[in-house]
Parts: sequence; C-alpha cells; structure tokens
Amino acid sequence: MKSITKSPLEIARASYQPKLPPVFECNIVIKAGAATESVADQAEIKKIFPNTYGMPTLILVSGDKKEYPTINVGVILSGGQAPGGHNVISGLFDELKRLNPENKLYGFLGGPSGLVDHQYIELTAKVVDNYRNTGGFDIIGSGRTKLEEEWQFVKGAEICKKMNIKAIVIIGGDDSNTNACVLAEYYLQKNIHIQVIGCPKTIDGDLKNEMIETSFGFDTACKVYSELIGNIQRDASSAKKYWHFIRLMGSTASHIALECALQSQPNICLISEEVEAKNQTLDDIVEYIVKIIVTRSNQGLDYGTVLIPEGLIEFIPAMKRLIAELNDMLVDNADFDELNTDDERREYVKEMLQPENCRIFRSMPKGIAAQLTIDRDPHGNVLVSMIETEKLLIEMVGKRLAQLKAGGSYKGKFSAIHHFFGYEGRCATPTNFDADYTYSLGETAAVLISEGKTGYIAAIGNLTKPATEWIAQGVPITMMMNMEHRSGSMKPVIRKAMVRLDGEPFMFFEKHREKWAYDISDYIYPGPIQYFGPTEVCDHPTRTLLLEKGM
Ligand code: FBP
Repeated sequence: MKSITKSPLEIARASYQPKLPPVFECNIVIKAGAATESVADQAEIKKIFPNTYGMPTLILVSGDKKEYPTINVGVILSGGQAPGGHNVISGLFDELKRLNPENKLYGFLGGPSGLVDHQYIELTAKVVDNYRNTGGFDIIGSGRTKLEEEWQFVKGAEICKKMNIKAIVIIGGDDSNTNACVLAEYYLQKNIHIQVIGCPKTIDGDLKNEMIETSFGFDTACKVYSELIGNIQRDASSAKKYWHFIRLMGSTASHIALECALQSQPNICLISEEVEAKNQTLDDIVEYIVKIIVTRSNQGLDYGTVLIPEGLIEFIPAMKRLIAELNDMLVDNADFDELNTDDERREYVKEMLQPENCRIFRSMPKGIAAQLTIDRDPHGNVLVSMIETEKLLIEMVGKRLAQLKAGGSYKGKFSAIHHFFGYEGRCATPTNFDADYTYSLGETAAVLISEGKTGYIAAIGNLTKPATEWIAQGVPITMMMNMEHRSGSMKPVIRKAMVRLDGEPFMFFEKHREKWAYDISDYIYPGPIQYFGPTEVCDHPTRTLLLEKGM
C-alpha cells in the first residue's frame, strides 16, 4: 500500500471519533413501520418493482443480542465526490466487524464500472484507517457509469458469486440510488441472493424528502464556498472597487447558492427555480442586477457580490428553448462537425435557428455562443454546466451600464471579477456534521445488510438535534420515486428536490434580500470550517436544514 504524507490537521483529525445515534451503543434490532407508497404514480411503480414496492420503513432500536453469520460486502462510490464518503466506508467497515469480526468489505474501484469490470480491493483495517475523517473518494475512486442494463447486473452477480459477496452498498445521488433499487429488484426477481442498499450522497443537496433530511457533503461544500464568499466580501468592502460575480456548483437545483446566500448575505443571489417560476428572460435578470448596481453606485458603493447557481441557464425558459433546438440541430450533424472555426459554426447555427431562438443566439457574447456549440456531451447535447454564466452576465450587465452612462443615468464605475466555486469544496475535509452523519449512515447500512434487507436507503433522522437524539433508519427506495420523462420514455426515478419557493429557506432569503442588496454592513464572514472547539462553532448544520425544521 502506498504511504500517505499527512498534514498536521489530517493527523489530528484521524483520531476524531464521529458521534453516532445512541442505538449503536446497544444490541440492535429492527422495528418495521407501516407499509409505504411511492410519492406519485403508485400503480406504475408497483408494477415495475413488484418485490421492493410497498416495503415498510425501518427503525433501528435496541434489543436482544444476536449472532450474525459471516458475510462479505461490496461498496461502490458513485458520481461526483462529496465530503464524507470515506466515513460512510469507515462506519460500514466498523459495524460489519462489530457484528461479526469475520465479515469482509470489498471496494469496487472507479465507481459502478468496478462492479461490472470486476475491479476491486479488499478494504482492510489498515486501508480504512488511512482515510478516516478525510475528504475525497480516493480510497477506491468514483465514476459516472450508470448501472441500468441487464448485462451489467449479470456481470455484477458474477463477481459477487466469485467473491461470495452477499450485499452491495451504493453511495450515490438520486440516479445512483434509483439504479440501486432497480438492481435490488432484479436480483430478487432472478432469485439471486445479493442485497443492495443505498446511501444519500451529493453536494448539490437535491436528494432529500420527507424521510431523507439532507444528502451528505452539502454541509461541508456550502461551508467552504461560504467561507470564500465571505473572504471576497471583506475584500470587496475593503477595496471598494470590484463587483464579484460568483457561479456556484449545483448542476440543477439552486440549494448551494441559496445556502451560501443564507450564510454570507451577498448583495445579489439568483435562484434558478424563481427565474423559471417567473418566466424571466436573460434581459430581466440583467435589468435586476443593473438596478442594484446603479442604486448602490448612487450611494457611492461601486462594489458588491452576485451569486449565480450553476444550472441557471437551463431555467430561463427562452434559453431552454434555444438549447433544445441546438441539441436537435447538432446531434449527429456531420455538416456541422466538419466546420473548423467558431465563426463558421456561429454562422451555420444562425442560418438554421428559428427566428426567436436566432435573436437570442445573436445577442450572446461570442465566447458563450462558442460554448453553446462546441462543448457537448458524448450524446451531442450542449454541456450546460460548462457555460460560464458569470462571464455572460458580466458582459451583458457591462453593456447595459455603458448605455445608461451614455444616457447620463449612471455615473459609477463598473469593474467586475468572475469566479466559479465547485471543485474547491467537493473533497474538503468533512465538517463534524458530515463526518458524524456519514459514519452513522455507514453503520446503519451495515445493520440493514446484516438484517437481510434490500432495496433500502440508509437514513438518519433528527439531524438538527445533537447526535444523542439521532434516529437510524431504513427507507424503501421505491417510496421516493415517481415516473419522469427520461431519454425519450417514462422511467421510475427518485424525485429530485428543487428549491421550493414556498419553503422556509427561500422565504427567509426573499424577506431579507432587499436589505442585503443595499445595506453597507450586512455581509457575514463565516470564516473557515472549525473541527475543534465549542459546539456552536463546530457542529451546527446548514441554515437550510435549520430553517426547514422551523429553527
Ligand atoms: P453528483 O450529483 O453526482 O453528486 O454530482 C454533482 C456535481 O458535483 C455537480 O454539482 C456538478 O455540476 C457536477 O457534479 C460536476 O461533475 P463532474 O466533475 O463529473 O463534471
């Protein structure tokens, strides 16, 4: 095994003992609740998942001591990195060993493809100990291969049979957990004795519902970005000369941008879900930003911060239509693929687009127009996450301010700096909250496996309370599903949680944003994550979670 050079913080952090729900101090039994229904489309989902539909929710409670037979378990990290993944694995490992010291844990390498391609390592105490309380997914790596085809399930069953693996834990987001359930159902239907258990991961914070209070990694990532935003705000209010346009990761929902706004109180934060609900255009957004810049400038404040969610572009209805037409036009388009320069591509697209879409395309800065036509995924679709919305807005706002200046209604100076925060937070050392939460998820998954469960996601309830009040649970994955249109057909999927405009976090933001836009001293500087110190500094969950729980 490769030796790892550790920083002083990593050395100190290695001996941190994550806090657990109290049930893990006892012998554990499982108490079943009532049968469940999916959130929508019950009849269709029941038909697709005859074996895993309607299962009860489960709670881990203290009970009589039990003997557990020896089992081997495989674990997979799926999708984008999120702080705490290593602690899910540590918790899983520790609880498996506590239940039966002969149990073994294998890690499939590089994400779900490790299962299909039979790439794995044994996760021994020596390996696991090196990664306790650290960020990243590097212990076994991650990947975005989707487990959705029968041949993949068969290949997975082959390696499990060979290694005598009785259960697979899939640590992933909404799609990966949907596929975990499809896999569980398949193995039940084929009478293959492999259980599948999921764990809710994603910094995006969009895998949450009535039973899953938050996905892990959201807490740490938002605290890292909020620290950086706070630092920038202090710089802005010291130098008093720059507007900072900051795009924040979160491929679809705006939870990260909203949470960072709640933590740092910027002058402007755009929320994609609101833009869509109000049917706003790019020009509406530009006018909104310009109004704040001009008003602040009239008070002598030629500086500020603007937070922009990564997924914004796709929520502007007119942009969505343009992107849809580009996708249709450019997929498998040999003529277009032969064009060599940005200018040629732009002219080609302008010729072909419908008049309204063409008008919008023509209004785009050249660099953004190029991103819309060149950066495409393997299926040929526009890679929306690559579009540098922060630069687009700076350019459009700058143009509008120049017009106002020429007309005499703006006298200020507009200098803007762009930022994109995403990768800076995805592998950060997990906060105490994420370290404790993920370790508890891993321990819960181990118990669900040992109790023979499949098609469940591990969950922890009461997360805004101290860990002494946390509740370890199993939630049937089908319970979180509905039918959605995906790649040309209706598919059962876990419903993604978008920012709710009638939810407490957004309503709090909406109530205060006007004040944050104009007041001189309303910035908050959250500072860096603290791992050691008073609980009110080190252990608090996100503002989103607290507001959602009425706190
Ligand atoms: P997951 O949904 O898999 O957790 O990943 C989310 C995310 O971090 C997004 O916020 C971001 O848009 C995306 O991953 C980037 O992924 P990649 O690094 O693979 O391009």
